[in-house]
Formats: sequence, structure tokens, C-alpha cells
Amino acid sequence: MQPFELKKDIYWVGCVDYDHRDFHGYSRSPEGTTYNAYVIRDEKNVLMDTVSPGCAGTLLCRLGKIMEPEKIDYIVCNHLELDHAGSLAQIVERCKPEKIFCSTLGLKSLQGYFNTKDWPVVAVKSGDKLEIGKRSIIFQETRMLHWPDSMVSYIPEDKLLISNDAFGQNIASSWRYADEHDEGDLLRAIKEYFYNIILPYSPQVLATLPIVEKLDIDMIAPDHGLIHRGEKSVRFILDMYRKLAEQKPQQRAVIFYDTMWHSTEKMAYAACSGLEEAGVPARLMSVKNNHHSQIMTELADCGAVLAGSPTHNNTVLPLVAAQLTYMKGLRPKNRVGGAFGSFGWSGESAKYIHEQLESMGMEMPAAPVKCNWAPGHEALKACHDLGKAVGEALKRKCQEG
Ligand code: FEO
Repeated sequence: MQPFELKKDIYWVGCVDYDHRDFHGYSRSPEGTTYNAYVIRDEKNVLMDTVSPGCAGTLLCRLGKIMEPEKIDYIVCNHLELDHAGSLAQIVERCKPEKIFCSTLGLKSLQGYFNTKDWPVVAVKSGDKLEIGKRSIIFQETRMLHWPDSMVSYIPEDKLLISNDAFGQNIASSWRYADEHDEGDLLRAIKEYFYNIILPYSPQVLATLPIVEKLDIDMIAPDHGLIHRGEKSVRFILDMYRKLAEQKPQQRAVIFYDTMWHSTEKMAYAACSGLEEAGVPARLMSVKNNHHSQIMTELADCGAVLAGSPTHNNTVLPLVAAQLTYMKGLRPKNRVGGAFGSFGWSGESAKYIHEQLESMGMEMPAAPVKCNWAPGHEALKACHDLGKAVGEALKRKCQEG
């Protein structure tokens, strides 16, 4: 349980949780996550964020290798969600800080979660500066990135941005720096995190990036996962966030579907061949075999979504309904869509999916395709044509930029 020195007198004192899987409804598999917390040793000693419930002992153990916990003067809570604040009561009890800082909106969540009657809480807003000795901490609220209370802390003397949830990834490992990790896995983890948590707040990302880019930064230390050090790594994550938030169309498609007796599955394969004929690579993802968060992650590289379900109880199968609900909540933009499904008796599913995708603002270049009983040549041709129409529409969209 050693602390890790990031810069002179600035330490990581977080906790690696290899077993955590469920992150407010999305799943990082096969990895867990890291709850990062940081200590700055100066005339005033500062603990930047805390850790998840159950991890207080780990944080205190690492902190204890640097200083007696009672020597912490200030605690900064950049965000009060419990993965960062769940151990706060224990830490406050042990450290007895002189002051606890949070954003003005953070006061609400702090008071909602804890009995703060006797806590020395101070609310801060964007631009407020806290002098701690040789260093200062400048606060910047980042409302809805991803909670109303979220903020980041900038230490100009060390060119360090402690960014809380922003710029994070759910990676559990012994490494602390992004440049030590497998590049492909890192990229996937960033996309997964963004597409399952940050995506609805893409406009806030685009509004925040210019503020962050004006700062002189050579390290971005998020509260989850790996830390970006050096100009190249900092530039990489800022550029990634811009790209992910812009959601410019990409010439690739994802098809998600469920099937009862393999008819809708055959339709999915036919739609895939239509996309391929149009020159759009596609990936088929059965909702039985892929978690809804994996399908969202795939969407990070896809400008088109096709979805299929057989009709079940006059609507779609439940896993398809769940996927549609999850996707709609994450508010993807700038996509092309298509819907299909088989049926035995009533046949509502394809129309229902079509309407759901349309309600997400997707361009729907073709009517939903439905097929009674098992798909024969005609139905498969209709699915192929659906895939082709979606592919052609996506290519046009990509050319328009
Ligand atoms: Fe919004 Fe990592 O908590």
C-alpha cells in the first residue's frame, strides 16, 4: 500500500478495485476500475477527492506513508458521487480537516449524503483560487460533466489538472500512467467510458475543452484509471474527447438484434450483407451475447445503427427494449438508422424499433422491414436492400462531413 509520487510532493493515494463491474448500469468487463485520490504536501496539506465506500482503509494506509492523516488541512471534493466520496465520512473523522471544499452545487449532494452539520464546508465557484503555500489550486466548475456538482482543480505551479470523472477510463492495473498501458486497450477503455457515461454531455465537453486548452498543462490526473503525463499524452486525451463529443459520422455500422427462432437473426445477416455491398463495414451484435454497454461502445466508431427483434407480446423482446432505452438515454447524435423484425401473428416490432431510432434523431432512409414467419428470398432481399439503403445514406452523410 505505497503512495505513488506523480510530481514533487504530489502523490496518488487511490485504490485499485479489480472486481467492480457495474458502473451506474454499465459494465466494464473484464476489468474493474481505479478510484484515484491525490495528496499535495505544502504549507497546507490537501487531499484531492477520496475513494469508494470500503476503500477508506487503503487510502489512509497510503496517506499514512506520507504523513499522519491528521496533518491533512484541506479536503477538496471535486464531485460528490459516492465512488469519490463514499468514504468521506470516515476520512473526515480521521483527518479532521480545517476546511472541506466543494462546488456550490456540490453543497447539495454533500448535505444530501452526509451529516455535515459540524463539517467546515466551503463552497467554491469557477475561478476561485486557494493558496496552499508554494502552490495554489484554481477551481473550475464543469457542470454536467457528468453531474451538476462536478468541477476540476488546476494547480498552475505544477501544470497539473486534477480532472475528476472527466478524461478518465475504467482501468484497473498496477500502472499509473496511460503511456504504460496497451494503446489499443486504452483507446477502447476511453471510448467505452465516454459512450456509457459522458456522451449525453457532449455539448458540455465541447464548451469545456477550450477552457482547459487555455491552461498550461503537462499532466491530467483523472479520478478513474490512468494518468496522462507529458504533452503528447495530454494532447491525445483532449483530442479524443473533442472527436468523441463531436460525433462526426463514421463509415461503419452496428447491428444489434435478438431472435426467437433464428428468423430475425437471418434478417440481421442479410442487412449486414447490404451494408457491406454499400462499402460500409458492419458488426453484428446479438443482445443475448453482448452487454448493452458493449453495444454502446461499438457505437463510438459507427455512424449507423440497425436494430431487429421479432414481435413478442405485441412489441419487441425485452433485451432489445432495454438496449433501445439505454441508447436513447445516452443521446447519440448524427446517426443513420434502420429497423427490421420477424413475426408470427401481429408484427409490431419493426415499426416500434423504427420509431424508437427516429425519436433519437436518426435519419431513417428506408421503411422498416418485417417478415412473416421464416424469411425467404424476398424478405432477405428486403433486408439486404435495407442495409444497402442505410449504408448509402451513411456514405452521403460522411461526405457531407
Ligand atoms: Fe461520477 Fe466517478 O463518479
